[in-house]
Amino acid sequence: MSADDRTSPAEITAAAVASFEGCGDPRLRELMQAFVAHLHAFAAEVGLTEDEWRVMIDTLTATGRITDERRQEFILWSDALGLSMLVDALSHPPAADATESTVLGPFYVPGSPLRGYGEPMAEEPAGMPAWVHGRVLSVDGEPIAGAELDVWQNGDDRLYAVQRPEAPEGHLRGRYRTREDGTYAFTAVRPVPYPIPDDGPVGRMLAATGRHPWRPAHIHMIVRAPGFRSVATHIFDAASEYLDSDAVFAVKRSLVRPFVDHAADDPERPPGIEGEWVSLELDLVLAPGDDDSEPVDPGRTA
Ligand SMILES: [Fe+2]
Repeated sequence: MSADDRTSPAEITAAAVASFEGCGDPRLRELMQAFVAHLHAFAAEVGLTEDEWRVMIDTLTATGRITDERRQEFILWSDALGLSMLVDALSHPPAADATESTVLGPFYVPGSPLRGYGEPMAEEPAGMPAWVHGRVLSVDGEPIAGAELDVWQNGDDRLYAVQRPEAPEGHLRGRYRTREDGTYAFTAVRPVPYPIPDDGPVGRMLAATGRHPWRPAHIHMIVRAPGFRSVATHIFDAASEYLDSDAVFAVKRSLVRPFVDHAADDPERPPGIEGEWVSLELDLVLAPGDDDSEPVDPGRTA
């Protein structure tokens, strides 16, 4: 057998890519051919060994086994490898001056209770009260009346209410509407950092590579108004740990905001708040458009 008769790695790749030429769906053909080409390029670049290939297969198998209706380990991989943020960025190109989006995350629950101006989201003690207030504006600076803020967050036990079956159903989540002048307010609690679930294959990858599972403290919200593009985003506490090493890469500079400390006897203490508290002033800016689609439930990762 001459050297010319041997099958080269490049020929294997070319054959796998070419196998999709007959695909009648042009987009599916593009996706599969690019996927296979990049997958092969990865293996060739690193000189992937059979043992390493076996670890990949075992890891995918473990990912499937741990995934159920509450735990979505595949999305966790996507999050922990930065793919979720990349797809979010590609899907929501920044509109000039509008509030930036970030990942929805696994803890969003549609249909939160509608609450009044300034009312608390916590239905049981959950940490330091945080008065969050500001306006919802168009990119021209015009106030938007009747915009909705759909807000959810964790408590000082690090957990979202959906992670605690015993918690009141509406705990630490709520929907708020802006007033005629575009102003809104709600009483949150100061959020705390929390780890993504790290007792499965993703956690083993983080440990093996010297990464940590923590996310910096944040409050989630979706802001929507008729005639405007909805935005799903987070507000990050500027004093939090892990802002520079979010396990899911969701931090954007424009979303990091300072919480202001207040003493219990501060004369500006809003009604209903007891003891020491913090405040956060935050204007939210929506781009024009027609997007009132609801986020797809990505599957829980409890
Ligand atoms: Fe979160």
